[in-house]
This record gives sequence, structure tokens and C-alpha cells, in this order.
Amino acid sequence: MDWRSLAGLTSKNIEKSCAVIESDERFIPGAVAIKYFPMAIERAQGSLVWDADGNRYIDFLTSAAVYNAGHCHPAVVEAVREQVGKLQNYTVVYFYNDRQVRLAELLTSTAPGDFPKKAAFGFSGSDGVDAAIRAARSFTGRRQILSFKESYHGMTTASLSVTGIIGSDVKKRVCLDPNVVFAEYPDPYRNPWGIDGYADPEGLTEEAMRSLGEILDRHRGDVAAVLIEPAQGDGGMIFPPKEFMTRLRDVTEREGIVLIDEEVQTGMGRSGRWWAIEHFDVVPDLIVSAKALGGGLPISAVIGRADILDAVPVPLLAYTHTGHAVSCASAEAMVRVVRDEDLAVRAEEKGKIIAEWFREKAKLYPFIGDIRQKGLLMGVEIVSDRISKTPDKAMALKISWAAWEKGLILITFGKNGNVLRVAPPLNIPDELLQEALGIMNASLEDAASGRVSEDILPYLKGW
Ligand SMILES: Cc1ncc(COP(=O)(O)O)c(C=O)c1O
Repeated sequence: MDWRSLAGLTSKNIEKSCAVIESDERFIPGAVAIKYFPMAIERAQGSLVWDADGNRYIDFLTSAAVYNAGHCHPAVVEAVREQVGKLQNYTVVYFYNDRQVRLAELLTSTAPGDFPKKAAFGFSGSDGVDAAIRAARSFTGRRQILSFKESYHGMTTASLSVTGIIGSDVKKRVCLDPNVVFAEYPDPYRNPWGIDGYADPEGLTEEAMRSLGEILDRHRGDVAAVLIEPAQGDGGMIFPPKEFMTRLRDVTEREGIVLIDEEVQTGMGRSGRWWAIEHFDVVPDLIVSAKALGGGLPISAVIGRADILDAVPVPLLAYTHTGHAVSCASAEAMVRVVRDEDLAVRAEEKGKIIAEWFREKAKLYPFIGDIRQKGLLMGVEIVSDRISKTPDKAMALKISWAAWEKGLILITFGKNGNVLRVAPPLNIPDELLQEALGIMNASLEDAASGRVSEDILPYLKGW
């Protein structure tokens, strides 16, 4: 990012942030980043974030759907403080540690399905996906993983292999797993069959199952797992029809294929249920969790059928820091906060308020093309007009920039980069939510009336 030019386009004081960016460019490789704004985050509390220059922001990103309970939740901070002063960690590869056992017991109690369950821990969503793939292949003795186009599953080699949203031109020099096949994700708003999937979910399901069936036929007897996000997050928060998920469960069960429910972004109450898969009344074999799970510390978990997880040969889930005591303590506190503070219910309430607000705004602004929401899993698609549905990434970035200028972190995502990503903490206080909606209102107005400079566009790469 040419941040110097970008910094010249804001009226904010970002001097200290710029100093951080200058050093970052010298010492941190560029591949780490899809940067948006010239802002170095200094501290955060609840739903608020401050940058190095003291500028205050309401956080509608939560560090990419991490802080479901808000930043520095006191129960999480206390659990970490207590654990870190007692035992940072001692590898569970050789001995035992009650922290990971307690967390596993708690987490397995949240997962649907009436069968014995276990949980395996790692550090990030990416390695959680790797572990689930490893388990599915070990259990079935098969090779192929069926994933979906435009999916995002991570950046380790295995999880990158099953990620659909990164183009093969970018991936081509990396040694990827060849045993991956991609199916169409049934996007009700945009799909290759031109079906309005909101009006005709059965028709969309039929087409998607037909094309998926062709892939299964081609690899019959060799598909270890179907890996699916119950809402395609970085694809732009797309919800498949309920009947698609039900039929997917039926076919995977019939063919002995492990159904991996990838809830790295959607889990821990954000969808208005503990796991987003609960919206579909589907019981998966394995659930992958990360992001919000750790309450801000790095941890992933694969939760699900004990027989599948136990099929992984020793020591193929053994990382030195697996089940790290401090991360487990933080995660255990986080799970209790989500449960005791009814955060899924809060997400449901607040999500409805925001979605309704956008529906009202859509009467004024024809560029609001689609509003997708379950709880506080939300994406608002920005288009040139509702008939052609042409993605308008430039307009989405202008709204996002205007919001940043006014103190709201609201970035974009999606397969066309034109979806506003609405992901505040599930417990955002009402007054901050109202303040954020006020900022969004002014940002929509600014962008619609041409008050946001075109000059920002070459610098904001976005998704
Ligand atoms: C759905 C999904 N899966 C996997 C990942 C990868 O997780 P991580 O970045 O923690 O490795 C992400 C990250 O954005 C994600 O959104």
C-alpha cells in the first residue's frame, strides 16, 4: 500500500500510525497483509479501539470476527492473568494438563449430535482445518476433499489447498495438495444458473446438488470429506438454502463421507446460535472452530466424533504448544461468557436492528443490493443497481473509507470485494450501536453524493 499518499487524503492526525507503518514496511513481508487504512491499533476495550494517535473507533470488524465478547472482557483478562502467573504451559504431548481437558469437555457439550465426542487443539483456523482433513482421511482411508468455490479456509498448505477464493495464479508456485475438488456453493444472490435462490431455494438446491453429485460420481469411493462453511464468510457472508445443507448431510451420510462444518468465522454465538450449523438442523461429524474461541488468544479446536478424531495416527496431532494452558484458560472463560451472558441471543437482537436499518436505507440507496444476516453474521452487498447487480467495489470502499474517517471500522469483503462486513461484538452497547448507525448513515450519504475522493481507490486494495 502506498500509505504516504493515502495518509495525505485524510484529515485525521495519523502521525504515530505512519511511523509504525514505515517500520512495518521495512521489517514485515508484504504477504502478511491486505491492509485497509493507515492505522496502527494501540489499545481496545469492549466495542472501542484506539489508534496510536489516540483516534477512537467503534469496532465493526472485531479483528476479523474474533472479539465476540468485546475487547479485553474482564472475565477473559482475569483468567489469562491467573493462568499466566501460575503455569504458562507445559507440553501436553508428553504429560497432562487439566486446562485442555476442561476446555474439551466444555466444547464438546456445545456441539450437536448424540455420540461420543472429543476435541483436538491447535493455534489458528488454518491448522484446525488441516487437522480436520487429516482426521477425515485417516478415518476413511480416502484421499479427496470436496470443498467449495470462493471458500476461505486458511493459509497453511493444506488449508490453502482447499481455499477456493484464492486464484490459481496466486497459488501456482506453492506445492498444494492435488486431491481437492471444488463444487459450486449455492449462493442465492449470484449463482451460475441465474436462479433467484431466495424465491426458489429448491431450484437452487437442485442445481447445486446435481453439480456436486457429478463430482462425487467422478470420485466415487475416494471422497474423504466435504468441507463447508455454513455461511461463506470471506465469500461475502452467503447463506446456503436450508434444504441444500440437509441434502448434503444425507448424501455424505449415505456415502460414508465425513461432513466437516467449518465454523472458524461463524461460531461462538455470532450467528444467533452457538454454531451456525444449528440454523440448518444438521449434525456434522466435525466442527472446526478458532477466531472467537480464544477470546483473543490463539487457539483452534476440531470438535466432533471421537471415532474420527481417534483414527488419526500418533503423533499427527502433536504440536509442542497444542492445548496451550493460557489459551485454554482464555477460551474456557470465553465459552462461559458466551453462555452466561447469552451472547447468541444478543447477536440475534442486534443483528435484527442493523438489518432492519439497512432495509430502510435500501429504500433511499439503490446501490444496496442484498442484505444478508443471521445474528451478527452480516454482509451488505453494494451494486451499481439492483437489476444488473453489477458489483460496485469502488462504492463499497468509499463507504468504508468515509466510516473510518468518522470513527467506525467497517471494511469490505466478498468474492467481488463489494460487500460491507458488519461484525461488531455481540454485546455492543445500544448507545454505541446507535452512534455507529449514525456514522454509517453519514458515510452512505458521503459516498452517494460523491463527497469521498476517487483518489483513495488505487490505495485501498481490499479483498
Ligand atoms: C472461514 C475461515 N476459515 C479459516 C480461516 C483461517 O483462520 P486463521 O486465519 O485463524 O488461520 C479463516 C480466517 O479468516 C476463516 O474466515
